[in-house]
Amino acid sequence: MHAIVIEEKQLRWAEVPDPEPAAGEVIVDVTAAAVNRADLLQRQGQYPPPPGAPVYPGLECSGVISALGPGVEGHHVGERVCALLAGGGYAERVAVPAGQLLPVPAGLSLVEAAALPEVACTVWSNVVAHDRLRTGETLLVHGGGSGIGTFAVQLGKALGARVLVTARAAKHERLRALGADVTIDYSEQDFVQVVREVTDGRGVDVVLDIIGAKYLARNIEALAPNGRISVIGFQGGTRAELDLGALMAKRGTISSTSLRARPLADKARVVAGVRDQVWPLVSAGLVKPVIHTTLPLAEAAEAQRVMETSDHLGKIVLLR
Ligand SMILES: NC(=O)c1ccc[n+]([C@@H]2O[C@H](COP(=O)([O-])OP(=O)(O)OC[C@H]3O[C@@H](n4cnc5c(N)ncnc54)[C@H](OP(=O)(O)O)[C@@H]3O)[C@@H](O)[C@H]2O)c1
Repeated sequence: MHAIVIEEKQLRWAEVPDPEPAAGEVIVDVTAAAVNRADLLQRQGQYPPPPGAPVYPGLECSGVISALGPGVEGHHVGERVCALLAGGGYAERVAVPAGQLLPVPAGLSLVEAAALPEVACTVWSNVVAHDRLRTGETLLVHGGGSGIGTFAVQLGKALGARVLVTARAAKHERLRALGADVTIDYSEQDFVQVVREVTDGRGVDVVLDIIGAKYLARNIEALAPNGRISVIGFQGGTRAELDLGALMAKRGTISSTSLRARPLADKARVVAGVRDQVWPLVSAGLVKPVIHTTLPLAEAAEAQRVMETSDHLGKIVLLR
């Protein structure tokens, strides 16, 4: 088969050996795969795949099952699926642990389905399973125009929350069309001040943060009593001073998770939660894949260049 290989921090479409399914795995013939910011870090050598994971980049895909490994039950050859991956999505075929397979949501094409597993699992596991966002609460999503952000806005609205986002102004109109109640241009406005203004000084209940160190103190300032902050990205660095007094004054909680390196059983639980709680919202049209553009899989380097500009809104999808 062919896959995208990383050589000296460059991506190249190359012939590589076919994957074999281990016990509990299936082989998916890839129809589409989506690009994630973490793939850019992997190319630069800063985010190696966990032991045992496929070495090629790609954290999610869609396609058709072409082989079953020993012990796989409840799936069949020819089944259309999408999947959360620890790697290997930028390829014609990938071995996937069966617990990380999801059905293609009703009404979606395979290409659309490729844009969902990573964002759905990340946002659901943080905002719903961990932070327990409730109807009537307020959610602040940093980087509303990201793949993660465009999904979080829609999920927050579908769950009955009020959703505030930070993003550059060029993305505000489209984010409001996705359901964002308040759009904040982080390059011009202080998000803490805007949060105070629009919440009558109360703050937000949940923050989904992709910036990390640079926003830590201000995220705590923006928090409502009993608020929860989930840090899932470090685009603004990893080291910052934490004022525990400020956090305690809010009775606040800060957590940080990643998906890729979790044990298989943990990932299977997240995937099951997404299938049970998020897929019905997708099938009902309340949460839609947001695809900025599609490119051939062999042009993954160009897809990553588009992501690096940050001018995209939503997901960039690679087609086989
Ligand atoms: N922990 C996990 O399990 C997990 C899983 C998936 C993703 N992530 C993380 O989630 C983040 C988003 O991933 P993605 O693939 O969706 O990336 P993406 O589509 O490339 O989005 C990155 C976004 O960051 C925004 N941004 C840059 N500086 C900002 C700032 N100071 N304030 C607010 N927004 C800012 C950009 O928006 P503007 O154009 O508006 O600046 C851009 O939309 C990444 O950091 C990624 O590593 C974590």
